[in-house]
Amino acid sequence: MLIYLVAGARPNFMKIAPIVRALQAQAGSPHALSYKIVHTGQHYDRDMNEVFFEELGIPAPDVFMAAGSGSHAGQTARIMVAFEALCVAERPDAVLVVGDVNSTLACSIVAKKMQIPVAHVEAGLRSGDMAMPEEINRRVTDSIADWFFVTEPSAIEHLRREGKPDRAIHYVGHVMVDNVLYQADKLAHEGGRFENSAWKDARRAAGQRYGVVTLHRPGNVDAADVFARIAAALNAISQALPLIFPVHPRTRASLEKFGVQLDPGVTLAGPQSYMAFLDLWKDAALVLTDSGGLQEETTALGVPCVTLRDNTERPVTVEEGSNVLAGSDPDAILAHVQAILRGEGKRGRRPQLWDGHAAERIVAVLAEEIR
Ligand code: UD1
Repeated sequence: MLIYLVAGARPNFMKIAPIVRALQAQAGSPHALSYKIVHTGQHYDRDMNEVFFEELGIPAPDVFMAAGSGSHAGQTARIMVAFEALCVAERPDAVLVVGDVNSTLACSIVAKKMQIPVAHVEAGLRSGDMAMPEEINRRVTDSIADWFFVTEPSAIEHLRREGKPDRAIHYVGHVMVDNVLYQADKLAHEGGRFENSAWKDARRAAGQRYGVVTLHRPGNVDAADVFARIAAALNAISQALPLIFPVHPRTRASLEKFGVQLDPGVTLAGPQSYMAFLDLWKDAALVLTDSGGLQEETTALGVPCVTLRDNTERPVTVEEGSNVLAGSDPDAILAHVQAILRGEGKRGRRPQLWDGHAAERIVAVLAEEIR
């Protein structure tokens, strides 16, 4: 029995890594699944791609499709055409997609039209914000998938409301959390010096706390006025808390295009490898972000997170975890940051089943179902 594991963009790689480990662990057992890693090439630069495979211990992809960047239609279409050819040449028994990127959408549509069953990992999340391309990707993928692996209770409710049968919904915890716990443990034991280690050491030697920033949502960085409001908030925060801001390629382009001015207290860096970035944010006083995955990873490690969005498709991180929603209003962002710096931020706890074993549960279900 052969299953394709689809990975295309940076946030997919952390989710695939524990699934590969769990599949490798059951090799040799009577119901073992064979797998192939299919990389769509949605992200392709070394620092957005290969470095994650190396650090997360993911084997080199069996297939690389080189879809590249471009418009949503162009990128999605190139992935679909290449993935269809692959599925025609070697019909897998199932296709597993993760998250909500264009590769997730493209490969699930192709597989389903060929009547190849689709497993969606991180199913059922809903922001309710149809201006986010990811929300469209999630809804379309879930409308056709066969197995739904969910990370939090809200997702079960959404899928039930959309008519999915309970037997297809599996609350397994979160592979993103499997990965961060595994890598944090590795970092604690193996350590290492990274690109920004000296920056971090200097702040700590001076007895200073620091914050970490990431931004890449089109809703924040493709609109000059929104980006300017967030930049004003970052500049104000940096008076009290030095910030380090690894910049995504999309964000870099907008910074230049809009001439966004950031104060010297905001240090810009290039995209970071997984370990270098983990090494930075795990010890930060707080994280400011619009990433989905980082909202969950900060909850997993108990680091305060201020999300620069008005909504989240991951409400458990707010209800139970260390996350707050601040939107893009500088006053709201500043108020949350000041509360955290005064020690009045919320502590949060790790949600149910966010215990590092989600991938094993997924593989157990699939081995049973595909058989
Ligand atoms: C994509 C995902 C988003 C995810 C994000 C993480 C979709 C719809 N969006 O958004 O959900 O959170 O990845 O990064 O699937 N670029 C490079 N090198 C690369 C890849 C991209 O320079 O390796 C540049 C290109 O100029 C490209 C731009 O970044 O046009 C945006 O890349 P794209 O993959 O289209 O979207 P992301 O914003 O990365």
